[in-house]
Amino acid sequence: MKVRKKHFFTRKIFKGKSFYLLLGLFLGIAIVVALYQTSVYFSTDESCMSCHVHPHVEDSWKLSKHFNNASGTKVHCVDCHLPPRNHTWSHYTAKAKLGMRDVWGYLTKDSTGFEWDKLSEIESAVKYIPNKSCKECHHNLFPEGVTDEAVIAHLYYEENEEKLNLQCISCHLDAGHYNPNYKHSKMAGAPVMSSVTIDTALYFKTATPVTEFKNFTEQVPGSLVTFEMIAVPGGSFKMGSPDKEAFHKEEEGPVREVTLSPFFMSEVEVTWDMYWAFYVKTMSEGRTPPANVFANNSRPDVDAISGPTPPFGFPDQGWGGGNRPAITMTHYAAETFCQWLSQVTGKKYRLPTEAEWEYAARGGTETPYFFEGNPKTFSNEGFWRKFFDAGTDVISSYVIYGNDSKNRTQEPDAVKANPFGLKNMLGNVMEYCADKYDPQAYQKTGGKVTDPLVREGTEWVVRGGNYASDAADVRCAARDFSRHDAWLKTDPQQPKSIWWYSDIRGIGFRIVCEKE
Ligand code: HEC
Ligand code: HEC
Ligand code: HEC
Ligand code: HEC
Repeated sequence: MKVRKKHFFTRKIFKGKSFYLLLGLFLGIAIVVALYQTSVYFSTDESCMSCHVHPHVEDSWKLSKHFNNASGTKVHCVDCHLPPRNHTWSHYTAKAKLGMRDVWGYLTKDSTGFEWDKLSEIESAVKYIPNKSCKECHHNLFPEGVTDEAVIAHLYYEENEEKLNLQCISCHLDAGHYNPNYKHSKMAGAPVMSSVTIDTALYFKTATPVTEFKNFTEQVPGSLVTFEMIAVPGGSFKMGSPDKEAFHKEEEGPVREVTLSPFFMSEVEVTWDMYWAFYVKTMSEGRTPPANVFANNSRPDVDAISGPTPPFGFPDQGWGGGNRPAITMTHYAAETFCQWLSQVTGKKYRLPTEAEWEYAARGGTETPYFFEGNPKTFSNEGFWRKFFDAGTDVISSYVIYGNDSKNRTQEPDAVKANPFGLKNMLGNVMEYCADKYDPQAYQKTGGKVTDPLVREGTEWVVRGGNYASDAADVRCAARDFSRHDAWLKTDPQQPKSIWWYSDIRGIGFRIVCEKE
């Protein structure tokens, strides 16, 4: 939508004296063309393809099972993209709407601005693919010869369709357009880890001894993986945001004074290299978690460290591993990672408390962000966005968020550090905290507290927003929480994975190490 404004207003044609004349002419043409298109012409594959020339749509359709199948059946563009014909009213209104919008877009917008990749994401696709169209043809989800995997998944679908707003494309997003990388809901087996070498020659690599309170480089024993830990001095700060801060929410208040002991915090969010080291090293050990895990989304008592099961599909979403933040793991998996790291390094690693997190993110500042700037300038929300694009210059040098992320996580080098030397505290991925989420947490404790930690609640606190967030939600004080059921929506396994979420991509974590 942003893109539309920009190109619309900057087109030369709209700047001359003939503005209104042309506008009228265009509108006239648009309406005539639109009506014509919608009534007769707009139903054929050819008409869709006459505009949708970006080759991936046609080619991928032809490679999909809806064109290229054993029965030789061809499923047309409108069979999926419009409600079924027997729902006459919605079929034709949807058609008129799609037609008008597409023609208008075609006439007025600069095609280089269309974000087709973004439109392919599940979040967009559910808006334009009516679920009833899929069901119109696939009225029996348990046909003869169907695989066990499909039976389990479809039973789950029927049970949870309403509750979780599950749709066919929640699991079959590639149905209409073939995508070789789409492996959702299928167990992919262990990933290939080129960066994590398990080599006995590395046995001499031992954890870094820490004797002083200053930054250090940790060495994961027996591997090539290292990472930076930053010494964060203890102190007091104002946690939360004042009522007058733009986009302030009630849960961020009242502002209270929190005193914290010193701790070390990882310079960057836990990377895939670090996470795969854990995965590889714990792979052979027991994988049976205690029975109470996930009953009520709670933390189990773990004696022996078990390692994650293989993820679904590619957990990196095809965005790349290495230094990119590890994502899609559960809170339980993140905590198990910390326990494992503590065990192999002989230090005490854990998730940050919510207070430690905000203290670290602020780096001594009391402003909405740790850099200069008003959230209203950067945000897509709010009145002025109708006329001007959101500012991105200042914020983009520090934060990977909705307006600069290209819809995916980025490596830590893409941004500058905060005053403590920490990167990506705001944006990139949301980070798990050690606290349970309580919207009234600040009210309950009153004005002054030391090392607070909330233990009661169902969901966990997550902080910092992610690559898709609006600028309003990457303020230092902005709070958020896990959504356990929704994030496991399409996990087809019974019982569901305790290690990986199937439906959230912007979640990861960062670790702290306690000062001895
Ligand atoms: C007159 C040219 C034209 C025709 C014909 C056309 N489209 Fe489009 N279509 C566009 C443009 C331009 C956009 C981008 C619109 C935007 O981003 O606002 C678009 C966007 C879309 C989207 C993106 C999803 C969305 O809702 O934004 C879908 C899906 C789509 N068209 C399907 C179809 C189908 C199916 C047909 C055939 C029935 C079709 N289009 C015919 C020009 C056309
Ligand atoms: C006009 C009827 C029709 C519509 C609408 C339709 N399908 Fe299909 N679908 C088919 C046919 C025909 C096949 C191919 C069966 C075969 O293999 O011969 C198929 C195959 C499939 C398969 C199996 C693909 C594979 O890899 O084996 C899936 C999954 C599927 N459809 C999902 C969907 C979803 C999701 C939608 C809605 C977006 C949808 N279908 C809409 C008729 C339809
Ligand atoms: C919770 C995830 C999930 C949902 C939701 C879901 N499916 Fe499936 N579906 C699967 C899995 C897993 C399989 C088996 C593996 C595969 O072929 O992809 C499957 C297989 C299929 C197949 C191939 C069956 C065969 O011949 O083996 C079709 C067709 C299909 N689904 C259609 C649908 C339709 C239509 C809907 C919506 C009404 C739907 N699915 C909803 C997960 C799901
Ligand atoms: C079996 C159902 C199905 C059929 C048939 C189908 N589509 Fe789609 N289409 C989808 C789904 C699901 C998405 C969203 C996921 C994706 O992009 O693959 C989509 C996405 C799109 C998009 C927006 C995203 C992008 O990558 O550009 C366009 C445009 C589009 N389809 C056009 C077409 C056209 C044109 C045809 C006919 C040649 C067609 N579709 C046939 C299901 C279908």
